[in-house]
Amino acid sequence: MTLLSVQDLVVEYPTPSGPFRAVDQVSFEVERGGSLAVVGESGCGKSTLARALVRLLKPRSGRILLDGTDLATLPERRLRPLRRRVQMVFQDPYGSLDPHLTAEQIVAEPLRLAGVSGRTERARRAAELIDQVGLPKTALARRPADFSGGQRQRIGIARALASRPDLLVCDEATSALDVSVQAQVLDLLRELQAETGIAYLFIAHNLGVVREMSTDVVVMRAGRTVETGPTRTVLAAPADPYTRALRRAALDPTAMHGLKPRHVLEGTPS
Ligand SMILES: Nc1ncnc2c1ncn2[C@@H]1O[C@H](COP(=O)(O)OP(=O)(O)OP(=O)(O)O)[C@@H](O)[C@H]1O
Ligand SMILES: [Mg+2]
Repeated sequence: MTLLSVQDLVVEYPTPSGPFRAVDQVSFEVERGGSLAVVGESGCGKSTLARALVRLLKPRSGRILLDGTDLATLPERRLRPLRRRVQMVFQDPYGSLDPHLTAEQIVAEPLRLAGVSGRTERARRAAELIDQVGLPKTALARRPADFSGGQRQRIGIARALASRPDLLVCDEATSALDVSVQAQVLDLLRELQAETGIAYLFIAHNLGVVREMSTDVVVMRAGRTVETGPTRTVLAAPADPYTRALRRAALDPTAMHGLKPRHVLEGTPS
């Protein structure tokens, strides 16, 4: 069953020389409990797309249908009760947590916003969430500076899970982490999905992560979708030259360094 249906989404940034279209007519669907990956070169519009999905940005046009309700056009007042259903985990485990708050306060805040009343109940739920992401009880009283990068990301995940969302948008959620820590966090996300049936939209550079974490993939280039389909099919036999170049670059991490997609394509046999 379809949870999220994104249709012809356009997101623009105002610039001195006029609107810059960072996401251009992108469409895809995420199944309830499913996993979709969005990949593409730096600057292709992945984070812009993610921010539009959680309505940190208002799209210029197109639709973001969550169980049939269009989040793209809803005014803030009507959006508020729906916000809890789509949550985001950010790339930077350092910048995305308030350094002044304890882990308990960080995780309890969305509970307060979601209307969970009573300090005791919020504290109980925060403790449950901290446990769910594999951190010890003692973590509750500590502040972000007292945690490692991987632990911070677990707190970010606990915070995102607090409102029991249907969809978690992970924007490069593990790319700042060491490979072994990254694997642990990905394992955690897989376990949580098996337990709760949450759906994921995974943004990643690393095609290995995409292969492991998603059943379907959208490949973006310069704001547009260039290829989409089951991850297995797309990565095994990419139809689009850009996807082939991405795959080669994934095998040789230096291959695309500093190159614009256009230059990569010039060297691509079709
Ligand atoms: N606030 C802004 N104002 C104007 N242009 C912006 C703004 N934020 C991003 N952009 C531009 O929009 C495009 C898409 O940016 P975005 O951050 O979505 O890319 P990305 O795919 O997430 O890249 P990365 O993989 O490096 O995170 C880029 O060309 C970027 O320069
Ligand atoms: Mg980004």
